[in-house]
Amino acid sequence: MSEPFDAVDVIRAKRDAGRLSTEQIDWVIDAYTRGAVAEEQMAALAMAVYLNGLDPQELSAWTAAMIASGRRLDFSPILRSPGNPDGKIATADKHSTGGVGDKITLPLAPLVAVYGIAVPQLSGRGLGHTGGTLDKLESIPGWRAQVGPERLLEILGSTGAVVCAAGADLAPADRKLYALRDVTGTVESIPLIASSIMSKKIAEGTDSLVLDVKVGTGAFMKTPERARELARTLVGLGEQAGVRTTALLTEMSVPLGRAVGNAVEVEEAVQVLAGGGPDDVVELTVALAREMLAASGMQEDPAEALADGRAMDVWRRMIRDQGGDPDAALPVARHEHVITAPTDGVLTRLDALAVGTASWRLGAGRARKEDAVQAGAGILLHAKPGERVRAGQALMSLRTEDPERFTRAEQVLEGSWEITQEARAADSAGVERRVILDRISAE
Ligand code: URA
Repeated sequence: MSEPFDAVDVIRAKRDAGRLSTEQIDWVIDAYTRGAVAEEQMAALAMAVYLNGLDPQELSAWTAAMIASGRRLDFSPILRSPGNPDGKIATADKHSTGGVGDKITLPLAPLVAVYGIAVPQLSGRGLGHTGGTLDKLESIPGWRAQVGPERLLEILGSTGAVVCAAGADLAPADRKLYALRDVTGTVESIPLIASSIMSKKIAEGTDSLVLDVKVGTGAFMKTPERARELARTLVGLGEQAGVRTTALLTEMSVPLGRAVGNAVEVEEAVQVLAGGGPDDVVELTVALAREMLAASGMQEDPAEALADGRAMDVWRRMIRDQGGDPDAALPVARHEHVITAPTDGVLTRLDALAVGTASWRLGAGRARKEDAVQAGAGILLHAKPGERVRAGQALMSLRTEDPERFTRAEQVLEGSWEITQEARAADSAGVERRVILDRISAE
């Protein structure tokens, strides 16, 4: 078949900071998906986009072409209920740009479903230092990530919340391109990240979307300025596609909560659903839930459904719907190594990237997408920035099935935390404890 464009011309145009036409973009994304544009050509184009960007029109065309590479889901047929004035249940979704200890989807999806909103959380697995929601849930005995399209609609209509693997036919161009970006140093590009995230979310067909855009050492965006730019780009793409979209900028210099890994994060999420859990996890869960309710026209206070057990009831149904046993004991790794505080003082720094990388090295994450993860591996944080510690007190517990992994995990943690004498500690500790830094919406 003869092709309407030449990949080299498209690469040269972007290399020289030119504008690509919608026709060129449609073609290159489609041709790459079907294998007519080679991996090395797409790698060169991704680098050219990384260096020279995409203007708003190019970005919309790029995102639309990624959506068109696969199937669009439609939740409307089954989401009808007599109790709804317009005969349609609202769907709301959350997406996080990825962080360390980020288990928020676990309590958030059932919490929002309590209010009659359907929450289809099509999620991914972890790659690198950030964990994957499906890896965490798979530590629950019996739980399965694969849910067919019909069953997905059935559970959404009954329980109201589903966390499952996205089908291979949802934005397949992104699946291919993301794997390529991962090995060509082209992940941290605002237009490429924005089109990657929003193509999947728009193809998924949700009515509204709340984005948790992470900022800090453990996030793709290291500064608030870059994170704000990403958030504005994401919100703009969502609104253009008719999806009500807001974004919260949230702190990711310090891990979220006190557990980083798989089963340990599920355990912490269950604590939150039981009305307890770490303050930062509760604060972010409630803030995101409030945004999702507001996007569906509701003003209720979601903190109530955490406190009174309604969110826990939905969680238990949601886990059972996918074959899991919510009462089963979670796996615990066989080996533990404890790092203790060398002096008295206040913990003033605990670097998210280092903790995430250490947890990954302990076996909680994977280096290649075909690797298996250890359900019980991870890190428990016994102190967070701003807290006093005593010499000899446990700072963190490292867990793994393979004790030979401790050395490399400890190496990456060296210099990643700091204990300061109390008088000098107060200011920095106060700054590190802020969870929500900003809110970006279309208004
Ligand atoms: N998450 C995505 O889905 N895509 C990116 O490019 C980055 C984070």
